[in-house]
Amino acid sequence: MALQRPPLLLLCFHLLAALHTTSYAALSSHLPQAMDCSTSGNYTSTSAYAANLNKFLASLPEKTIFKNGGFINDTVGEGTGTVYGLAMCSADYSRSDCGDCLAAAASSNANGLPNRCPGSTTVLAWFDPCLVRYSDTNFFGTAQTGEIYTLNGPRAIWEPLQYRNDVVRNLNESIAAAVASSQRFAASSTDPYTLVQCTWDLPPDQCKQCLDVLTANASKDWTSMAVDGKRRSYSCSVRYGNTSFVVVPFGGAPTPQSVDQATTSANQSSSAAGKGSLTAGVVGSVVGLILLACACLIWYRRNGTAGNERKFFRLHKTQTDTQTLAHPNAHKFTYQQLVGATRDFADTRRLGQGAFGVVYKGAVMVQDKEVDVAIKTALVVSDEARAAFKNEVEIMSPLNHSNIIRLVGSCDEEDNLLLVYELVEDRNLQARLYGRGARVDAELTGVRARGSSLDLDWRKRYNILLGITWGLEYLHAKCAKCVLHRDIKPGNVMLDRDSNAKLCDFGLVTQLTHAITSRSTNNIIGTQVYMDPAYRNTGKITKESDVYSFGVLLLEVVCGEEPVLIDGAGKNSLIEKVRECEKRNAILDAADQQLRGEFDEEIKAALSIGLCCVETRRGDRPTIQIVLGRLLSLTGKLASNNRHPNAVCDEV
Ligand SMILES: *[C@@H]1O[C@H](CO)[C@@H](O)[C@H](O)[C@H]1NC(C)=O
Ligand SMILES: *[C@@H]1O[C@H](CO)[C@@H](O)[C@H](O)[C@H]1NC(C)=O
Ligand SMILES: *[C@@H]1O[C@H](CO)[C@@H](O)[C@H](O)[C@H]1NC(C)=O
Ligand SMILES: *[C@@H]1O[C@H](CO)[C@@H](O)[C@H](O)[C@H]1NC(C)=O
Ligand SMILES: *[C@@H]1O[C@H](CO)[C@@H](O)[C@H](O)[C@H]1NC(C)=O
Ligand SMILES: *[C@@H]1O[C@H](CO)[C@@H](O)[C@H](O)[C@H]1NC(C)=O
Repeated sequence: MALQRPPLLLLCFHLLAALHTTSYAALSSHLPQAMDCSTSGNYTSTSAYAANLNKFLASLPEKTIFKNGGFINDTVGEGTGTVYGLAMCSADYSRSDCGDCLAAAASSNANGLPNRCPGSTTVLAWFDPCLVRYSDTNFFGTAQTGEIYTLNGPRAIWEPLQYRNDVVRNLNESIAAAVASSQRFAASSTDPYTLVQCTWDLPPDQCKQCLDVLTANASKDWTSMAVDGKRRSYSCSVRYGNTSFVVVPFGGAPTPQSVDQATTSANQSSSAAGKGSLTAGVVGSVVGLILLACACLIWYRRNGTAGNERKFFRLHKTQTDTQTLAHPNAHKFTYQQLVGATRDFADTRRLGQGAFGVVYKGAVMVQDKEVDVAIKTALVVSDEARAAFKNEVEIMSPLNHSNIIRLVGSCDEEDNLLLVYELVEDRNLQARLYGRGARVDAELTGVRARGSSLDLDWRKRYNILLGITWGLEYLHAKCAKCVLHRDIKPGNVMLDRDSNAKLCDFGLVTQLTHAITSRSTNNIIGTQVYMDPAYRNTGKITKESDVYSFGVLLLEVVCGEEPVLIDGAGKNSLIEKVRECEKRNAILDAADQQLRGEFDEEIKAALSIGLCCVETRRGDRPTIQIVLGRLLSLTGKLASNNRHPNAVCDEV
């Protein structure tokens, strides 16, 4: 029993890096939209209820997302102290965003529900990407119909009565479809776009009642009908709008009675394709994207003790290709070799562990050379798991560039799936810029992280930016199949001991990175701020989206300041600041003042390049090749670069 190997799971789910199509949805996803904490009958920290609650919360992201594809209702314990818990993902968020949301809600830090409502036995909370409820009484199957969250866009000016009627018609159709589906969810893919969902435990009539109330509220006064809006109760949710937004269908099709049976979203595309009502869940022009973009994730749960670290792997192939690629670089290991490499997966070799995975440090022989590696372990239990594994190997294997984390090889034997990645031991760029994460890093890697922002002088920062640009240029243009990174941000850039940048979020290092960032309090909204605004509006991701994210990162590295979203329109604080300084003809005011002096001209030119990359219109942004040329010319032919800063944008 004690020697039994804990189960390892490897899953693949469809990736949408971020799905917020309207800027309001992008804000403050870590703050509850609505929360209700009971104030009587409080539990104490030593009670059976507290223990059961911790058990429920510990497995929350994993069970909700990976086991059930977006919903869970769970009963933990028996008799007094029983916890009835429920969680659901918002269908207009990716499951990975939902996973972040659940991890935050379940965490033991200040963001966690037990700390937001200390002692409360009954808690109900909606965050934008997820709903979490728990109580000491069984509430399953009963709808809470009171509206607790309202969000209205601008008023519809053009034929509001007609618009209201169209919205109600589509909502009614969606409600009928949702009530008939086991996942209590449906969406319409024609204007006005609608999305409705109930918690899966509700019987059809309760679900309909719940949604009808919200619909009636949204449409009751046509003279003040909003162009788009959201309505929520603690049992259901309605969203509508005249611009398309992305909806991610739920994987599998568990019935409410069997939601506890393992279902994964790995089969999402096929199950969605087979069901009209679910296919409709994808609105706008992003259907192909959802079905093709596949993010893989490997996680490993040890002894049932799940942490809250997020471990997502994001990568997107720009085009479909069913042909299997040849993998000249992929080394095939036997399981026995990897057992040896990790001293039988010794605890002392463990690099990181979280809710979803364990990664070990090891050393393997590749072409007669010993290479330090990080090994992600997995035990195959299903065909989907193997498909996901193959997908990761297929995408990663052909990539061979010094600025991209390298997949050294893999092992695929019977019931063992392992991925072997190059080991990068220093911290990520985010931690280095702000001198954060040192402690956690040491904890994970055993290596005392050194330095703070002060040791990143201009030469180093320039070198880092150049490295990222090389890596991106390779992804966009040089490798056999073009790959978009989709999630460029300082947290996804690892630095080796010589401060060379390595792009990741391709696997292991990402996972460590996420382990670090998810321990800070604001990780959930992190990526939003690097996201191409055009993606939010169109749902289409392009090379220019990567260039935009790179631009934000560049400005951040040069200014030494973390960007945040500001004002209701979701503007980027850093871009606004640099633009403002540029307008005053004092762009250097925006730069990190610790860098000022000898390299002012280079810094100035770098900021101008950054501004071009973050142009609102995609067509105005340079390609990464042009960015690379410009960056290289900073140090070389600086003297001949005496043009107006914006000239770089015009040179295509
Ligand atoms: C989930 O809810 C359904 C419907 O009310 C109920 O029958 C089932 O027992 C619940 N599952 C668990 C694990 O509590
Ligand atoms: C129960 O906990 C809540 C906070 O969640 C607190 O406001 C309330 O005063 C507590 N009630 C009692 C009786 O301790
Ligand atoms: C949505 O409605 C607003 C206000 O009526 C209008 O300005 C806008 O053009 C509409 N958008 C689309 C895509 O129809
Ligand atoms: C929508 O459904 C509600 C409640 O079922 C009904 O009262 C209303 O007439 C329906 N509206 C349309 C346009 O179908
Ligand atoms: C609609 O929602 C608002 C905001 O929560 C609430 O004040 C109002 O009573 C609701 N109206 C109806 C008809 O449910
Ligand atoms: C995936 O879905 C397809 C089509 O619905 C089905 O035939 C197949 O058995 C499913 N695979 C698994 C592993 O559930």
